[in-house]
Amino acid sequence: MRAIVFHGYGQQPRLVERPAPTPARGQVLVRVRATSVNPIDWKQVKGVYRPLLTARFPFVSGYDLAGEVEALGPGVTGFTKGQRVHTRLSGQGGGANAELVCAGVDVLTPMPDGMDFEQAAGLPLAGMTALQGLRDDCGLPMQGARERVLVIGASGGVGHLAVQVAKAAAAHVTGVCSARNVGLVRGLGADAVIDYTRPDAWQGVEPFDVVLDCVGGSHAGALKRLTRDGRFASCVPGPAVIARRVVNVLSKQQVAAVMLKANATDLGVLDALFAQKKLTVVIDSRFSPEQLGEAFARSESGRAAGKIVITWGGGA
Ligand SMILES: NC(=O)c1ccc[n+]([C@@H]2O[C@H](COP(=O)([O-])OP(=O)(O)OC[C@H]3O[C@@H](n4cnc5c(N)ncnc54)[C@H](OP(=O)(O)O)[C@@H]3O)[C@@H](O)[C@H]2O)c1
Repeated sequence: MRAIVFHGYGQQPRLVERPAPTPARGQVLVRVRATSVNPIDWKQVKGVYRPLLTARFPFVSGYDLAGEVEALGPGVTGFTKGQRVHTRLSGQGGGANAELVCAGVDVLTPMPDGMDFEQAAGLPLAGMTALQGLRDDCGLPMQGARERVLVIGASGGVGHLAVQVAKAAAAHVTGVCSARNVGLVRGLGADAVIDYTRPDAWQGVEPFDVVLDCVGGSHAGALKRLTRDGRFASCVPGPAVIARRVVNVLSKQQVAAVMLKANATDLGVLDALFAQKKLTVVIDSRFSPEQLGEAFARSESGRAAGKIVITWGGGA
């Protein structure tokens, strides 16, 4: 089978032939049809977060994939050969960008009807981050929410799904993005959109009960947008956010660092929202496996609107 392999930090990927893996107990072997790019992929192979996040070379990057079950490992029930599935692979070892990949059933779900492989590859990591950031870190109820929610980075991989998760929960949602993405964010259901490039962007804006930051930057700035007992969570928590969490106990404003925990239950929640037509996955751009470097460059530009996918063939 073919896999995209990195041989060292900062090096270019190479598409090489490798032996197919064998699924262990609790795993299935998936024939990959699409993967998606998340910023962690290129940050990991560049060594941005070393020593917290390392890569063991030769290294296959990527966490999100969609495809068809090729074989079941020992003890696996509930999945069948040929079934369409998707996952955010568990752990920090990457491994998605190959034709055949072993995935644990604890992080695997069947693709809902109507979802294609590109959308299915785009959803897991970004969607679970959005869901957990809003629900677990900001305490947003998933039904009948009365909160005013601000999503910073509302057009990105995580942000565009966060807008839809918060809307599905019935919250009042404001998205922050640049002028060219205002139509996209409104189309996803945002009640209001703030174009951060305008000098008067924040004039007259009422405070928010929940702020989810999908961009990073000054948490002090985000706290100014909060109500007195509001909740703020950052997907890109710097040392200041980590330090600020220590004084949560002294303040009514709560600050949290989002740390994705991949699991099939939460992916199932997102699949159900898709099936109910309350959520869709926007595709920013498509690349072939040979173009992984270009796909990484697109992600690194910080300009993607929705998800960047790698198509491995095999139809929708
Ligand atoms: N903690 C975790 O567990 C976790 C999980 C997933 C992701 N993350 C992190 O979360 C971050 C976002 O991930 P992602 O996949 O959503 O990234 P992404 O798709 O690359 O985000 C790109 C988007 O960010 C927007 N953006 C850039 N600067 C902005 C600004 N100042 N204000 C508002 N929007 C801005 C861009 O819109 P414009 O072009 O309009 O500016 C673009 O649409 C990454 O740093 C990633 O590593 C963390």
